[in-house]
Amino acid sequence: MPASPAGPAAEIAAGLCAPQARIAPKFFYDAEGSALFERITELPEYYLTRTERAILEAHGAEIGRLVGPGATVIEPGAGNCRKARALCARIAPACFVAIDISADFLHAAVAGLRATLPALDVRVLVADLGAEFSLPPDLPAGPRLSFYPGSSIGNFDPAPALALLRRLHALSGPDGALLIGVDLVKDEAVLEAAYDDAAGVTAAFNLNALRHLNRLAGTDFEPAGWRHRARFNRAQSRIEMHLEAADDTLVSWPGGRRRFRRGERIHTENSYKYRADAFAGLLDRAGFRTSTWWTDPAQWFAVFLART
Ligand code: AVJ
Repeated sequence: MPASPAGPAAEIAAGLCAPQARIAPKFFYDAEGSALFERITELPEYYLTRTERAILEAHGAEIGRLVGPGATVIEPGAGNCRKARALCARIAPACFVAIDISADFLHAAVAGLRATLPALDVRVLVADLGAEFSLPPDLPAGPRLSFYPGSSIGNFDPAPALALLRRLHALSGPDGALLIGVDLVKDEAVLEAAYDDAAGVTAAFNLNALRHLNRLAGTDFEPAGWRHRARFNRAQSRIEMHLEAADDTLVSWPGGRRRFRRGERIHTENSYKYRADAFAGLLDRAGFRTSTWWTDPAQWFAVFLART
């Protein structure tokens, strides 16, 4: 399929021209952005990754019992497959379907997974979760377990989040389940530190989107002229990341331009934080039956197992 050159550039220009300028979070993830995100997951302030890993380790045996052997694990946005590797080592599925939009990254990660778990039937599907796609027709007959870790659901506004959960419900098939990681509401200082770390890695990650845009859309952003901002919006229960102009500035690109006043912001990301009961309610509205969930001692993060 030939890539449409107008595609990302047009979307980027529309976002920059909106009254509240915005950049979609998918534009964080060029090679540099993906590497910066890996570093974020190891930061002392970014508790999400390590807390989820601890929950999955602590309750892996129980999750394995509830899911049963011989399942087909399906992970949209499988990325480096590191979380899937730990999960598959625990629950002995028959098959693992890794879905991601980045083919190169996925093939390398899957090669690693095949080397560690040679008995596992590993399949690769290059697809965008936002679009229609179909699973390989010859999957094993066992129950399906969709795996959506990392609080990736947090990037979606409420209505699209519900729509995504409904798609995950359909993907999980009859007598299937969804295993999903969700970040919980907590003290605002803890939340804000996780998105504005002392080493400045999250700031670099946010600012890197501007370099990515310069390449994709021909914008002339000067990253040094922008400041990283991360605030918890309690009314909407989300961390909002912005880039704030340090001075009055003009951003130009082929076909357009926008003037930003000093202090004016570009919205780059929402990261929703849930109450466990509210998330259980969302799973219910998406069509899931009973859900079980586990948390850490501080109740900072939750892992839900919801049945179709
Ligand atoms: C990959 C969407 C789960 O929201 O915590 C990390 C992305 N942004 N630091 C998150 C992110 C800034 C991350 N997700």
